[in-house]
Amino acid sequence: MSTTTNQTAEMSPHSQQIASGVFEVQHPLIECHLTALRDATTSPLSFRAHVRRLATLLAYEATQDLSIEMVPVTTPLTKTTGGKLAQRIGLIPILRAGLGMVDPVLDLIPTAEVWHLGLYRDEDTAQPVEYYSKLPPDHPVDVALVVDPMLATGGSMLAALETLKKWGVGQVKLLSIIASEEGIKHVETEYPDTQIYVCKIDPELNDVKYIVPGLGDAGDRIFNTL
Ligand code: PRP
Ligand code: URA
Repeated sequence: MSTTTNQTAEMSPHSQQIASGVFEVQHPLIECHLTALRDATTSPLSFRAHVRRLATLLAYEATQDLSIEMVPVTTPLTKTTGGKLAQRIGLIPILRAGLGMVDPVLDLIPTAEVWHLGLYRDEDTAQPVEYYSKLPPDHPVDVALVVDPMLATGGSMLAALETLKKWGVGQVKLLSIIASEEGIKHVETEYPDTQIYVCKIDPELNDVKYIVPGLGDAGDRIFNTL
């Protein structure tokens, strides 16, 4: 037995569809953990824990349409059928801050392959600079989950998308904790077939392209390098 099924059916009641591929996940737990992340007095230890919890909630929503293959399973009582993931899943953290979201997503999808992309934003221009990428030349994953807590101008996500499309990935889902309206529009315009899952869309960027109200610098707060 090996029938593959697509779990496309209905959208979760927790995801508000903002535009065709853009989903803001709304849940009381998300609101609470996000508020703790925004709080400037939250310690790096707590900050990391809240990032992990939010990444779990986000990944649960973002993976609702993954395909599963029906497989036989024998319980202590009888034979029945169950499901296993039918596609190769890639987890792509954008260094550094994306690393904070890797373990919780891997806990949910232990068979995922983790491919790191090193990108930082130039402080003067806010343009992404790539400093690490070791994707293999062929055999792209079927579904890529790109994780980065912040989507500000969208430049880093666009650079990641370009790399993943060149690799040949079929489906890309972006998971960010906070995104700006402007950044989302930017990504949507360039890659309309990409799904974007976020916990919150904030209204603006300041003059140095930080998200407002935002949470400050996610990488510095995760790694205690403020
Ligand atoms: C931050 C963040 C994103 C990027 C978002 O990383 O984690 O990768 O900025 O900004 P954008 O949408 O305008 O590109 P940063 O460059 O601070 O690097 P870090 O994760 O190493 O701290
Ligand atoms: N990167 C961050 O960590 N925070 C922002 O607000 C923008 C980019």
